[in-house]
Amino acid sequence: MSDLSDLYQQAVLDHNRTPRNFRRLPDPDGTAEGYNPLCGDLINVDVKMDGDVIREIGFEGGGCAISKASASMMTEVVKGMTRDEAREFFDSFRTAVTEGIDFFEAIDKLGKLAALTGVSEFPARVKCAVLAWHTLRAALDGNKATVTTE
Ligand code: FES
Repeated sequence: MSDLSDLYQQAVLDHNRTPRNFRRLPDPDGTAEGYNPLCGDLINVDVKMDGDVIREIGFEGGGCAISKASASMMTEVVKGMTRDEAREFFDSFRTAVTEGIDFFEAIDKLGKLAALTGVSEFPARVKCAVLAWHTLRAALDGNKATVTTE
């Protein structure tokens, strides 16, 4: 278990050091800015849609290692999902990081994002983990206002 957990922690470090899809998209179909008032960090998420399916996604900003790793993993996971699938995944992820979850169950449900579920023990860090996801949801909803984690 600890080897597996270490492996997943390495994934967090890797995504923080080398974030995937770390760019703004030209002419996005949806875009939003997210703000974590606890620390002042901002993130932008852009999406290009193919009908109801997320075809391209990019982000910039992101603040701390947890928020950046979460955003980077999010971009890999949601590409190819429909709006509803992405929203459902976010709901599962938010529940896991807020209430805690068995690690193996998390791997089953969330894949590599299981690496972030340990933040459930640190309420302030939960905001970091969900910042990009709130922002994605706003981008998918066409919400132009800045969304916050509060
Ligand atoms: Fe700002 Fe984590 S400390 S998002």
